[in-house]
Amino acid sequence: MRWMSALHRVIAALALCAAVLVGLAAAPQASRVPWQPPLSGVPDLVGLYLTWSKDPTTTMTVNWVDLYPDSPSSLHWRRVGDSAWSVADASRVAVEPSSLQRRWVELAGLRPDTMYEFGIGPAPAAPADEKAAKAIESSTWRFRTMPAALTPTRPLRIVAGGDMMHTRAMVDAMNAQAAQIQPDFAILGGDLAYEDGVRGARVIDWLESWMRICVAEDRRLIPMVVGIGNHEVRGGYGGRIPADAPYFYGLFTLPEGRPHYALDFGRYLSVVMLDSGHTTEIGGAQAQWLESALAARTASQFLIACYHYPAYGTAKAPEGGLSIDNPRSVAIREAWVPHFERYGVTVALEHDHHNFKRTHRLRRHARDDDNGILYLGDGAWGVETRTVPSPEQGWWLAKASPTRPLWDIELRSDGTATMRAVADDGSTLDTVPLSSPRTRPDAQHQADRHQGQ
Ligand SMILES: [Fe+2]
Repeated sequence: MRWMSALHRVIAALALCAAVLVGLAAAPQASRVPWQPPLSGVPDLVGLYLTWSKDPTTTMTVNWVDLYPDSPSSLHWRRVGDSAWSVADASRVAVEPSSLQRRWVELAGLRPDTMYEFGIGPAPAAPADEKAAKAIESSTWRFRTMPAALTPTRPLRIVAGGDMMHTRAMVDAMNAQAAQIQPDFAILGGDLAYEDGVRGARVIDWLESWMRICVAEDRRLIPMVVGIGNHEVRGGYGGRIPADAPYFYGLFTLPEGRPHYALDFGRYLSVVMLDSGHTTEIGGAQAQWLESALAARTASQFLIACYHYPAYGTAKAPEGGLSIDNPRSVAIREAWVPHFERYGVTVALEHDHHNFKRTHRLRRHARDDDNGILYLGDGAWGVETRTVPSPEQGWWLAKASPTRPLWDIELRSDGTATMRAVADDGSTLDTVPLSSPRTRPDAQHQADRHQGQ
């Protein structure tokens, strides 16, 4: 009966192989990002990220986070190609209620469109040999300031998205795509770590993923322009600043010290970030500020508005209604959209609904292919997707699907632009060419219509 036992062994082996294959197929998709060794120089760093609170062409804020109140609190930096380091002392704050320690240095007086390198701690001595030079290099990162102007050979590249981290594997996958694009900076429209103002361990994961994975060539870090979402806030909406969103307000020094702010890049771009009711009322003072901010920026070639909750979403329909009937969407269309239409924008970036979407060009709450505003979203950098309205229901949608996108935006000096939606496997979901930089403002729109009659 020896042949029987041999046959049994073969059958058992085949069964085992089949079980392994089935198991592999059923296992959740692992991150394709390889393990990376600890960072040299500062082996226990939790996060390292770049932000701006002032002019992005001449300043850069370098932020880093660790767990220790007494670790190095200085930054050495120099223009790439220079030999001497400058050293700056960092500000420090405990990101309460956790014991995370954030340190930051705002560097000013920098040259536009110029690469700098920096490291944490005192400046290293001049390297005596190649090994020492390599050690310095491996504990040094880079940043590039934004250009003073765009030229035909110097477009601006932005990645944009929000709702970043249901799981670490998901945020890792999309952060890797963002890094491959080699953008100048990122616009992140809220729901970053999903810590809900209380779960600091999630903040650590989000920071670490950005620091390790969202890094361009030559260890160049990608600056981030951040907005607030409901998952930054205890309770999601109507929170107090800073008490109900302690991580958001602890990690970021915001321009003008508010969650609604504008950043101006030369005369070619303004980015306007808004708080869709998380710690600031949608209407009232914020809407008044928006009008004055847009009125002051009519000369900006491109103007991108970004906020978390969408005016023209794809999910969260109230009972018996559509997504766009949600009271938050209605409030945004009443308080903000008339200002977008009055002054003209390049695009409105929207989030929270965990899908891919591009609206038709919309104006006065109707399709206007000639001079309507494009709303791109819908916030699914690294989250499970939902469902989208059917084409019959979703009259405002040109394209939508339950897919995770980031938006890869290229702005060019001639006023044209391309918005490309990229899935987390690198495939292109959508490509939107823009032939003019902003929708025409109301006054011009009316004049054009009058002339056409
Ligand atoms: Fe959200």
